[in-house]
Amino acid sequence: MEKNITVILGDGIGPEVTRQSIKVLDAVEYQYGHTFNYTYCLMGADAIDKTGNACPDETIESCLNSDAVLFGAIGHPKYDNDPTAKVRPEQGLLKLRKSLQLFANIRPINTYPSLQHLSPLKAKQMDGVDFIIFRELTGGIYFGKKELSEDKNTASDDCIYTRAEIERIAHLAFKHAQQRRKKLTLVDKANVLETSRLWRRVVQEMALQYSDVAVDYMFVDNAAMQIILNPKQFDVVLTENMFGDIISDEASVLSGSLGLLPSASVGIGTALFEPIHGSYPQAAGKDIANPVGSILSTAMMLDYLGMAKEAEHVRQGVNWTLQNNFVTKDIDSINFYFTSTIGELIADFVSNKITGEVNKGNIEMRKSTII
Ligand code: IPM
Ligand code: MN
Repeated sequence: MEKNITVILGDGIGPEVTRQSIKVLDAVEYQYGHTFNYTYCLMGADAIDKTGNACPDETIESCLNSDAVLFGAIGHPKYDNDPTAKVRPEQGLLKLRKSLQLFANIRPINTYPSLQHLSPLKAKQMDGVDFIIFRELTGGIYFGKKELSEDKNTASDDCIYTRAEIERIAHLAFKHAQQRRKKLTLVDKANVLETSRLWRRVVQEMALQYSDVAVDYMFVDNAAMQIILNPKQFDVVLTENMFGDIISDEASVLSGSLGLLPSASVGIGTALFEPIHGSYPQAAGKDIANPVGSILSTAMMLDYLGMAKEAEHVRQGVNWTLQNNFVTKDIDSINFYFTSTIGELIADFVSNKITGEVNKGNIEMRKSTII
């Protein structure tokens, strides 16, 4: 197959982790006879520095004309503590999500037996944790009217949802639940918010069409607690934009590191794939960031492009590195491997170059051919 992919390296560690995904895609091309054509585009602080615009029109144009978008990370500390900044890197990502109508952000939460010691939870709470968050991505408080009074002492952000916005993501979440353990939990704040009461009403009505799916409803404050107390109870979690942002970062610590988690943002047209972590500026350029979140996002992209076998091969490569303790500094701060080495190992795995025992001495020397 031939596919056109827009690559947005973005800010901080975005470029270095995304480059590992490209290495893995090179191996997929070679091994399975596909062709991936890449168009590199700007977004975020990088785009502001170069063009004055956090998401230039050419970026949106390229994404709309591609089969998929692979994205690194966004954000720069120079904007974080400056509430007066007129352009902000994050606006670029929000604009892109809206332009591509990426209304559903899908974040799977898995655990790895070899990393259980890193989880803040005890092993008995961790066994069998496997759930997936469907976060609404183009509505709610993120996109409502924002106001600041003239004297700058009063501010507001409107939170708006329509039935149609809720229905389209809820259909995806229900269908996904049907393929899994057939449970859906709607996370909201229906005891306080009118928008949450709308979510609850719409989902209750839709539940009748999906009678094989057990639905339960949980207030977001309780959900934040339940994710830590008893994460095994969740299968598919459906929630609005802001709650989804918060609980997915929380849920990521179950896996052992935020750096491991991938996401897919899907909607009406081209889908976008990105790790859930931020730009981690302290690590930028040091070759220490974890590329697994990006590489697993790439596996989600391959699934989306109809390359299920290839996606599975990439996931096996990731599992193989984790099982053999080929991990980055966030996971093992003493015996760690470089970002680029992990990328090479997973690419070599996909190229079937890893056939037996691996000589770890060679890998520490950062040789790419490791047998
Ligand atoms: C995420 C990020 C973004 C969000 C930021 C960078 C705007 O935290 O993708 O979760 O809040 O959606
Ligand atoms: Mn977030």
